[in-house]
Amino acid sequence: MAKLYASKSPEVTARERRNGERARKIAPQGMVLLKNGGSLPFKNVKTLAAFGSGIRRTIKGGTGSGDVNTRTVVNVQQGLEEAGYTIVSNDWLDLHDKNCQEASEAFTARIKKLFEQQGMKAFGEILSNPYKDPEVPLITSEHLGTKADAALYVIARTSGEGADRHPVPGDYELTENEKQNIEALSRVYDKIVVVLNVGGVIDTKYFRACPAVDAILLMSQAGNFSGYALADALSGKNSPSGHLTTTWAENYTDYPSALTFSHMNGNTDDEYYTDGIYVGYRYFDTFNVTPAYPFGYGLSYTTFDIHTDEVAINGADVVVKVTVKNTGAVYSGREVVQVYYSAPNDNGPEKPYQELAGFAKTKELAPGESQTLLIRFAAASMASYCEKYASYVLSGGRYYIRVGSSSRSTHIAAAIELSENKAVSVLQNKVQSDVELELIHPDCAPYTYAGEADEKAAAPVLTLDPDSIQTETITYSQAPEEMTTDKDFVITLDDVISGKADLKELVAQLTIEEMANLTVGAARGGGFEATSTIGLASNAVPGAAGDTTSMLIESRHIPNLVLADGPAGLRLSTHFVAGPDGTPIPGLSENPFDELINMGKEKPQRPDDAVDYYQYCTAIPIATLLAQTWDPDAVEAAGDIVGSEMEEFGVHLWLAPGMNIHRNPLCGRNFEYYSEDPLVAGICAAADTRGVQKHPGCGTTIKHFCLNNSEDNRNFINAHCSERAIREIYAKGFEIAVKTAQPLSLMSSYNLVNGEHAANKYDTLTSLLRDEWGFEGFVMTDWETTGSPFHNASDKKYPTSDAAGCIKAGNDLTEPGNAHDVEVIIRSVCSGDGAGGIQFAEEGIRYPITKAELQLCAYRILKVVKKIVESRG
Ligand code: BGC
Repeated sequence: MAKLYASKSPEVTARERRNGERARKIAPQGMVLLKNGGSLPFKNVKTLAAFGSGIRRTIKGGTGSGDVNTRTVVNVQQGLEEAGYTIVSNDWLDLHDKNCQEASEAFTARIKKLFEQQGMKAFGEILSNPYKDPEVPLITSEHLGTKADAALYVIARTSGEGADRHPVPGDYELTENEKQNIEALSRVYDKIVVVLNVGGVIDTKYFRACPAVDAILLMSQAGNFSGYALADALSGKNSPSGHLTTTWAENYTDYPSALTFSHMNGNTDDEYYTDGIYVGYRYFDTFNVTPAYPFGYGLSYTTFDIHTDEVAINGADVVVKVTVKNTGAVYSGREVVQVYYSAPNDNGPEKPYQELAGFAKTKELAPGESQTLLIRFAAASMASYCEKYASYVLSGGRYYIRVGSSSRSTHIAAAIELSENKAVSVLQNKVQSDVELELIHPDCAPYTYAGEADEKAAAPVLTLDPDSIQTETITYSQAPEEMTTDKDFVITLDDVISGKADLKELVAQLTIEEMANLTVGAARGGGFEATSTIGLASNAVPGAAGDTTSMLIESRHIPNLVLADGPAGLRLSTHFVAGPDGTPIPGLSENPFDELINMGKEKPQRPDDAVDYYQYCTAIPIATLLAQTWDPDAVEAAGDIVGSEMEEFGVHLWLAPGMNIHRNPLCGRNFEYYSEDPLVAGICAAADTRGVQKHPGCGTTIKHFCLNNSEDNRNFINAHCSERAIREIYAKGFEIAVKTAQPLSLMSSYNLVNGEHAANKYDTLTSLLRDEWGFEGFVMTDWETTGSPFHNASDKKYPTSDAAGCIKAGNDLTEPGNAHDVEVIIRSVCSGDGAGGIQFAEEGIRYPITKAELQLCAYRILKVVKKIVESRG
C-alpha cells in the first residue's frame, strides 16, 4: 500500500495558520500604491461604502492549473470587517452576489450539456472559456443612502491558462457600469479609493482622469488571505511597498505587439516577434512612448531620499553604494532602489535606452531613518548578444549608470569607459529565426528628462579594464556514448547510493522498455484519448499533476516522483476518500477539475470503511505580486511556505515557478509570471527555488521554456523570434535561475520555437540549457504535448510534438504520459549497435533515436531521483 501523507483530520492545522500569516505579511510588500492624494492609509475611517466585484468576489489568483485549491478565501469584506471597519453597502453587494449565483448556475448547466455532447473535449472549452462573473449592477441612490467615512471601489479581473485576454470592457477595459459606478460615488464622495484586484495590466485612463479618485492601490491577487492583507495595507498596519515589474501603458495600442499579439490579428498559428529586444520599458524608453505607470514605479505612504554615495569597479563587478532616507514625518516604509545602465549605441548591436542591472530594497525605515545598500552586478552582464559573431559582446565606449526608484525617475551616478569591444562569451548561433523578421527599430530620439545632458557631462568616469573580463568559450555536446557495465548482479538505486555501483551502470542494465517507461510519466491508458485530465494525473497524491513511473520500485528500488502545480501555492485535492487499503477512490475527491470531469456522472458508492483525508494548502500571492516586492528574501519566504507543504504532503517537484516574460498584457497567464524584465524574472525564480529546495527532497520546475508568451492555440502556436531576443529577453531569466539556483527540473513549453516544438528542440534544451548554462536537472514536457483529448490536432497547421523527439532533444520526461508515447519511443530506437545503421522504414517514426540518447534521458531523471531519495531518506 502506498503511503498517504494527507491528514485524517479536517481541523485547521498550526501549519495552515502559520503559513497563512506568513503569506499575509508578504502580500502588502508587493502591492503597488499608484496614486495617493492623502486618502491612504485610512485615518478616522470606521464605515466604508464598499463597491465593486472584488469586495466579496475577491480573486485570490487566476484560473486553470495555476489555481490553488484552498480551504477558504478571505475576501475583502471579511478582511475589512475583521479589521474593525463597517461596510454600509451590503444591499448592492447582495444584489451582485445574487446575479453571480444565477450566472454560475447557468454556466454549470451549459457545461453539463457540453460534457454530454463532447465528452472530454468539453474540458478544453472550459479551460479556454472559464466561468466569469457577470457585469456589476449599477449603484443607485438607494445604495448610497447611508453616507460612510470613506468610499472604496475594488475592480476585479481574472484570467488563466488556455486563453488570452481581450482589450474589451470587462477585461482590459472598464465596463460602462464600472465607470458609471465611480461616477455615482463621486457625486457623494469627493475622495474615492480604487483598488485593483487584478492579475495583469488594465486600462487606468478613466481613474486617472476622474478627480474624485484620490488613491489607487494595485492590490494584485494575494492568495487565500487576500482580504486580511488588503486591510493591513489600507489601514497602514503593513504599508504597501511594491513597485511595478511591468509597464502599464496609457493605451493598450501603445504596446509594440498590440495589433499582432495572439488572436489580435486573427492568426494564432504563427506569432512573429518583430518587437525583438524591445519588450516593456526597453521599448517605451527607446521609442519615447510615455506610459501611464512606468516599469519600477511605486509610491509609499512616506517619502524617501535616494543618495548615491559611490559607484566603483571592483574586479569584474560594478558596485553601487546608495543611502536611502525616510524623509517623511509620520509613516515608516520600504523603498526599492533600481540601477540601470545605458550601453554605448554607436558601436556593435543596437542598444535600448536603458536596461536594469540590479536592485535592492530597504528594510522598514522609520521616519528619519536611513539605510545604506550595496548593489553589485557583473560588468559582463551589460553585454549584448551579437549574432554576427555569435558572441556576447561588451561594446567599447561609455556606459552610463543610472540610480533611482523607477525606470523613469533615475539620475546618472557614473559613467564607465571601456576602451575596446570585449567578447564576454563565445557561443554558436543556435536559435536563429526560421523566417526573415521585420524587426522594429527606433526612428526617433529616446526618452530623456530635464538635466540628463548635464548629468552625463558631470558624471564621474570610471575605467573598466578589458582584461578584467574573462572570455568564456563554450564547447557543445557530441552525440552521447552508450553506458555500459560489467556488473553481473541486478543493480538497484540502493546499490548506487551505497557506492556498490555507479548510476550509469544501473542505467546500462535497463532495457529499452524500462527506459521508455521511465522517460514517460506514470499516467497510462491505451492512447492519448485515455490519459487523465491536465493537472490530475497523479496516482500517488490526489490532485497532484502527475508522477514518474512506479514500475521500477520493486526491481530497482526506484521510487516514483510526485509532481504538483503551482505557482501560487501547492495545488492538491483539498479532500479525498480512500479505501481501507489507502487507495484513493476516484470521483469522491474535492477538486474543481475532478468535479468538472465527473459532472453529470453518478457519484461512486462510498464504502462503509472508507477514510477521509485532507490536504489544505496555502495560496501564496501570485508571481507578479511576489516580483513586485523587489525583495528576493520575500520571494524565497513564499517558496519556503510551499516547500514546507510539499514535505508534509509527499510532493517532490513543484511545477513552478512560471517565469515567462510579460511581452503583452493580454497573455492569459501573465499573473503566473513575474515581469517583463528577464533579470527580475531570473532573480525571483532563483529565490523561489531556494525557498523550496532548502526542504529535503523538494525541487522546483521552472517553466515554460520558452516563448510561451500567449495562450490561444498554445499547443500549436509557432513563435518566430530572433536569436538575440531569445537570448537577451525570453531565455535570459531561465539562464539566471539555472546558473544561480540549479532548480531540480525545468518544463519545456507547448509552443513551437522557430518551427520546432519546444519539447523537441535540441538547441534550446541541450545547447543552451546544458552546454552553455550547465543545467544539472532534468527536463519534462508540459502536459500532453504529444496529443490531447482536449483538441483536435488534425485541423492544426503544425503537428504535435513527438515523444521520441523529446528524447533526441534532451527533454527527458514526457508528462503525464500515455502508452502511445512509450510505444513511440520503443519503436524509434535504433536496434543493433545504436549507431543508427538500422533503417527506419516504419510508418510514423519522426525522430530516430539511439539507445545512448535514451539512456542519457533516463540517467538525468535518475540523478534527480537519487538526489531526492538521498536528501529525503
Ligand atoms: C500547464 C502547466 C501545468 C500542467 C500540469 C498545463 O496545462 O500549462 O503549467 O504545470 O498543466 O497541470
